[in-house]
Amino acid sequence: MSATKKPSKYVAREPDASGFIEYTELEHQTWQQLIERQLQVIPGRACDEFLHGLELLDLPRDRIPQLEEVSAVLRRETGWECARVPALIGFETFFRLLSERKFPVATFIRTPEEFDYLQEPDIFHEIFGHCAMLTNPAFANFTQNYGELGLNASPKERAYLARLYWFTVEFGLLNTKDGLRIYGGGILSSPKETLYALSDEPVRADFDVVDALRTPYRIDIVQPIYYVLRNLENLQQLTEIDLMARVREAMAAGLYEPMFPPKEAA
Ligand SMILES: [Fe+2]
Repeated sequence: MSATKKPSKYVAREPDASGFIEYTELEHQTWQQLIERQLQVIPGRACDEFLHGLELLDLPRDRIPQLEEVSAVLRRETGWECARVPALIGFETFFRLLSERKFPVATFIRTPEEFDYLQEPDIFHEIFGHCAMLTNPAFANFTQNYGELGLNASPKERAYLARLYWFTVEFGLLNTKDGLRIYGGGILSSPKETLYALSDEPVRADFDVVDALRTPYRIDIVQPIYYVLRNLENLQQLTEIDLMARVREAMAAGLYEPMFPPKEAA
């Protein structure tokens, strides 16, 4: 999710007059270390659609890509593009951009101190984690439809919709003929969670949209539960049902008990 209200220590880079965004050598190195580490853990764990998307994107290893390089591929495949945004954006902007097939990317990368975990979604998370799946039509259509629904939703409905995004786009798993695979970008941009999500530790449940809408989550821990899609076409189907009716159903039923301890006061 790219929307939260907490302040961030990160500042997104601005492009120069020609639209080029400059990064420091250290920042390029951080990208290289992140992408090389992640490319080692995803074979046999990421779904084929993600791996195919990565091939199409052909991301550079030794430098942070310019957004336009990624956008050119997305436009050609599914009509999406990247949109440069500040480190954190509000829900309104988030939903509007998605509804326009623009994926928000904050143009900053984590510091070495936060190499393994940071709360804000940085450019590595957004591009490596999410943009490969945006080359898949079912995923691309679902994400746009989600933006349109969110744009017109009430604050309470948005809170429920956020959980659906969380358990699909960010932390979704997929059953395949070859076994369990990952398509969620929150998992696939983290080596720790890539291994953990497929381990014996977490609960995995068959994806049900109302269950996902009703399941609380914490952003600062590995997930205690993941929802598993039968196939990616399930995401396309979600664009063809009255999803807001399911949101109202979830709201009437209320949230499930959290499967995690409450966050300790800082
Ligand atoms: Fe994300």
